[in-house]
Amino acid sequence: MEISGRTKICGVIGNPIKHTLSPIMHNAAFKKLNLDFAYVAFKVEENMLQEAIEGMRALRIHGLNVTIPHKESIIQLLDGIDPEARDIGAVNTILNKADELIGYNTDGIGAIKAIEGHKINPRKKRIVMLGAGGSARSIAYHISQVAEKVVVLNRTEERAKKLAENLKFKINANIVWDQLSKEVIRKQLIDADILINTTSIGLSPRSDESLVDPKFLNPELCVFDIVYNLIGTKLIRDARKIGAKTIDGIDMLIYQGAMAFTIWTGVEAPIKAMKDAIIQEIS
Ligand SMILES: NC(=O)c1ccc[n+]([C@@H]2O[C@H](COP(=O)([O-])OP(=O)(O)OC[C@H]3O[C@@H](n4cnc5c(N)ncnc54)[C@H](OP(=O)(O)O)[C@@H]3O)[C@@H](O)[C@H]2O)c1
Repeated sequence: MEISGRTKICGVIGNPIKHTLSPIMHNAAFKKLNLDFAYVAFKVEENMLQEAIEGMRALRIHGLNVTIPHKESIIQLLDGIDPEARDIGAVNTILNKADELIGYNTDGIGAIKAIEGHKINPRKKRIVMLGAGGSARSIAYHISQVAEKVVVLNRTEERAKKLAENLKFKINANIVWDQLSKEVIRKQLIDADILINTTSIGLSPRSDESLVDPKFLNPELCVFDIVYNLIGTKLIRDARKIGAKTIDGIDMLIYQGAMAFTIWTGVEAPIKAMKDAIIQEIS
């Protein structure tokens, strides 16, 4: 990749950030389409977000992805927000459009595309989601528009309640919540079709942790873990062992990234080049 005086800079802000695969994926895509763009990772501490966004303006950074822990707090620092991201209450992509910073959220559609990519149709399915953070909000927003029912379980019950009530109010979603516990997970998985982990449990280096006792899984269940690591999270490995269908976070990473790529460049993302770059990196 040749960096020139005209190169447009994109990147990701978050903390922790050094394990991100986004630079590998986006730089491979820019190279494939011969676009004069480059993508870098910036570690931004929680108390430095405002300064980071001022830096984005001053340096005319063209686009950013936003990850843990900034997806919600970023909103107040932007000039505009896409209506879906506003309803979701979280932003994972920013476009610097003629010096106006506009926020978008591509997580939820990325998750749906990952599910559909495995030939699973979430329409009329019963979904159990673990977690009620920024990515859960985006996934619940999209999946509750097609699913029969969505159950959100979270360690902090208040956060699950807020997520569900917001979606009931905004889009009349069929969504309920409960506090996350071993017993509640057991009960909810009895007749669930798709289990989605959106909590950070399983994230490297704690790849041997899972919120779900393997004996509550069954081969009819589709298990989707949005967390990704080299060998698959414990939840994904447990699900594979009993013959359940599994979807790991890499697919969602690619699809949410592909949508961000299009927002920044105006062209369709080369999905295969992005996937090949990630597979090469993790193998
Ligand atoms: N594959 C992808 O493309 C993709 C995209 C986005 C995010 N992710 C991954 O998804 C994860 C969550 O991201 P996020 O942005 O939604 O984070 P977030 O907003 O900080 O939410 C974190 C969630 O994890 C829960 N949690 C944390 N520690 C827990 C514990 N010890 N026990 C039970 N629950 C716990 C939190 O519960 P409380 O509310 O109780 O704190 C909350 O529901 C991250 O690991 C991120 O890397 C992957």
